[in-house]
Amino acid sequence: MRGVNGIRNASAQEYRLVDATPRPPTLAGLRRTYEGEPLLESDLASDPIEQFTAWFQDALAAGLPEPNAMVLATASAGGRPSARTVLLKGYDERGFVFYTNYESRKGRDLTENPRASLLFPWHPIRRQIRVEGTVTRISHEESAEYFESRPYGSRIGAWASRQSAVVRSREELDHRYEELAARWPENPPVPDFWGGFRVTPIEMEFWQGQLDRMHDRLRYRRVRPGWALERLAP
Ligand SMILES: Cc1cc2nc3c(=O)[nH]c(=O)nc-3n(C[C@H](O)[C@H](O)[C@H](O)COP(=O)(O)O)c2cc1C
Repeated sequence: MRGVNGIRNASAQEYRLVDATPRPPTLAGLRRTYEGEPLLESDLASDPIEQFTAWFQDALAAGLPEPNAMVLATASAGGRPSARTVLLKGYDERGFVFYTNYESRKGRDLTENPRASLLFPWHPIRRQIRVEGTVTRISHEESAEYFESRPYGSRIGAWASRQSAVVRSREELDHRYEELAARWPENPPVPDFWGGFRVTPIEMEFWQGQLDRMHDRLRYRRVRPGWALERLAP
């Protein structure tokens, strides 16, 4: 049987018989058309945190899964970069807060080189926000307040995991969890190796996908007092 363009049509049954090998997608051919409302300088708030709030509301309204998941990039003192996802747990004019193990790889990077970049990859709404800034640890009291609000299992999990260290097996990890759960059947204390970091922005870029790769990129740059707003080529 011949289909359009003379290409042979095969039934699903035939495909199974002929070639059932799953093939990787051809990445070069994967593309998507971006078009949205143009993003104009006059549409943006004078303050990037306010603009973040507006876009975060849009991400929530669009029903994005885990809109507060962000990619955190750090670098060691020697300049070796690494990136991973963490959850945004609070923000205000001082910056963006996430929680982690201070002795993890990211924790060590940020202790020796207190600079970071954050990326919110909101693909379904064709938007991306980038933040670059300096990093500080939040107060122990602030970390404790968040720690107490976490479910019991997560609190024990924070104790049980020497995050980023090599472990011998899953069993070792589970055994450690059980030991600690037995030690604190309720109210585990806040580990001194765990807490929040705050990324205080010096630059924030709002990216909106547009047709023909002519995307909108508007970047706020800290110029004390206030912010400069610049358009970047896509
Ligand atoms: C959706 C998602 C959310 C995550 N949130 C956090 C988080 O808030 N804090 C954290 O320490 N790790 C979080 N992780 C795990 C990190 O991506 C990473 O595996 C871990 O922090 C160890 O990273 P490191 O070895 O570079 O320090 C999350 C992972 C995913 C996929």
